[in-house]
Amino acid sequence: MNRSHNEVAVVTGGSAGLGLALATTLIDKGWNVVTDARDADRLHTALPASPRVTTLAGDVRDGDHQDAIAAAVARHGRLDLLVHNASELGPMLPLAEVPESLFSDVLETNLLAPLAITQRLLPYLIASRGTLVGISSDAAVEHYPTWGTYAASKAALDHLILTLGEENGIRAYAVDPGDMRTAMHQAAFPGEDISDRPLPESVVPHLLALLTGDEPSGRYRAADLAVGATR
Ligand SMILES: NC(=O)c1ccc[n+]([C@@H]2O[C@H](COP(=O)([O-])OP(=O)(O)OC[C@H]3O[C@@H](n4cnc5c(N)ncnc54)[C@H](OP(=O)(O)O)[C@@H]3O)[C@@H](O)[C@H]2O)c1
Repeated sequence: MNRSHNEVAVVTGGSAGLGLALATTLIDKGWNVVTDARDADRLHTALPASPRVTTLAGDVRDGDHQDAIAAAVARHGRLDLLVHNASELGPMLPLAEVPESLFSDVLETNLLAPLAITQRLLPYLIASRGTLVGISSDAAVEHYPTWGTYAASKAALDHLILTLGEENGIRAYAVDPGDMRTAMHQAAFPGEDISDRPLPESVVPHLLALLTGDEPSGRYRAADLAVGATR
């Protein structure tokens, strides 16, 4: 997956965790990467300064920020990979107790923003026969008490990604990365020692195996994807 030409990826939430690990690997492999996060300082220091790296501080929910992502892609003139990774855990409460406003917040970040960004970028993705990815969770298919808000958003994101793939004739993957030692995971398990969870960097080779292979569109667990030689 080393690139000698000008392939372009958008990875949302690229300042930490899985998004940073994936963006960094793609950059190392020669991709042009457009990425974002809300905390500008952390974003700009996390990634290398390079003409191939565009860091846009902003919130995926914000329309102007979505336009800025689209403008960055327009400057490249192509898009080969769009990864919806930025995500909000939301309230860890039984659904009976979740305030509607908090439920809406999670849907805005995890579902409506990926739709709005994809709508802006679809022409580029279709033109390059690119790949659309939504980072999912086992919560999308399990029914864990207190995870219902996040879980519903991820189940809907899976549906959104895979339907967009069918509608537009592009490869689309909903990928459950598995547990990872990140800030989001720590927030889900406050006070718990999560040092036994794998680092997000360990998931990236599985993601690359999917992106460079010929698996049909669908839902995948990263752990099930064999790591082989990548293009
Ligand atoms: N960690 C796990 O165990 C686990 C398990 C299953 C699935 N996942 C999924 O894996 C993906 C990555 O999770 P992670 O654990 O790597 O998360 P993380 O370490 O918390 O990193 C999240 C990244 O997204 C950015 N972000 C969050 N909200 C954003 C927003 N509204 N707009 C723009 N950027 C935003 C964050 O930066 P700012 O805060 O500065 O915006 C950060 O760069 C998520 O989709 C998550 O649901 C994680």
